[in-house]
Amino acid sequence: MDNASPAADEWVPRPAYWIDDVPTAYGHGPAVVLLDQTRLPAEEVRLVCSDVPTLVDAVRRLVVRGAPVLGIVGAYGVALAAARGDDVKAAAEDIAHARPTAVNLAWGARRALAAWQASGGDALAALREARVLHEEDAAASAAMAAHGARFAEGLAEGRPLRVLTHCNTGALVSGGEGTALAVVRALHRVGRLEKLWVDETRPLLQGARLTAYEAARTGMPYAVLPDSAAGSLFAAGEVDLVVVGADRIAADGATANKVGTYPLAVLARHHGVPFVVVAPWSTVDRETPDGAAIVVERRDAGEVTELSGLPLAPLGSEAYNPAFDVTPPDLISAIVTETGVLSPVSAIVIARMSAGHDPVMRR
Ligand code: MRU
Repeated sequence: MDNASPAADEWVPRPAYWIDDVPTAYGHGPAVVLLDQTRLPAEEVRLVCSDVPTLVDAVRRLVVRGAPVLGIVGAYGVALAAARGDDVKAAAEDIAHARPTAVNLAWGARRALAAWQASGGDALAALREARVLHEEDAAASAAMAAHGARFAEGLAEGRPLRVLTHCNTGALVSGGEGTALAVVRALHRVGRLEKLWVDETRPLLQGARLTAYEAARTGMPYAVLPDSAAGSLFAAGEVDLVVVGADRIAADGATANKVGTYPLAVLARHHGVPFVVVAPWSTVDRETPDGAAIVVERRDAGEVTELSGLPLAPLGSEAYNPAFDVTPPDLISAIVTETGVLSPVSAIVIARMSAGHDPVMRR
């Protein structure tokens, strides 16, 4: 790991970064380096991507995953193609289409492509843009944490909170400390986190493997629960707040996030618990009018019917395996972005607040 035992409240991994000169099969060259999230928490190992197909495959296998860092990786991937002298436009399209739901991926790739084109094909221009995007994401993360924690503290009337989250939205998915988990971390820093409830997040266990890893590294009080136990946790009055991230927020506020998010929103509404989405403006896609227009990635049956290669279901079983679900805006209490808190969530509020944050070349 890159970090030599930092204090728990300073710990930030580097999920994706650029190196200028790595040995490759053909000599030396640049590479995008990824912390392999499929191997966490057991091992902290890196995957060196010295060409775009390796990077695209890594995105598909979830070596790197989570909307904001996919934007960063998308931009670095285009910089990599430019530095290698590849067909940069084709590479940008391959990266943009590696996964369909998180809008940040295509946004990052096309932003770096636009910088490269505007410079008349200067590879350094693409890399510079990727670095700017990376820094912007870190700054957005810090701002979301501040806005979100203030909003949450306002709900708590001075009490420490019991917060439920789903999937992984922390430093592993960001240039900074993340989105929803950055808010939880900010609460923890000021002594306002009683407990973080971590949904395990079937089938790929981003909660149990990654959020619990981050919670442990940063010293948060946490417990992992099976996704199916969330209902009884709400019924027992053990949840004060739900915070989640987003892969794409449509123009009306409908939010695609890891499958299992929508049932939490329904539970939260039933039990009168605030349900808050935390995401940067780069995740808001005003070209997608509503939740029905969001393309939800379908993944292999084996992710559901097997666990680490061992069968959980009879051989040949079919499976329903959408990677995401969509939560309608009326179930969302607030959306926290780097510019502030949107509440209530509606197309009008999003249109008003998004001035200056309109999506750039998303498709
Ligand atoms: O399939 P994944 O692991 O890429 O899904 C990620 C999520 O659903 C996250 O909650 C989302 O990208 C927000 S990350 C800040």
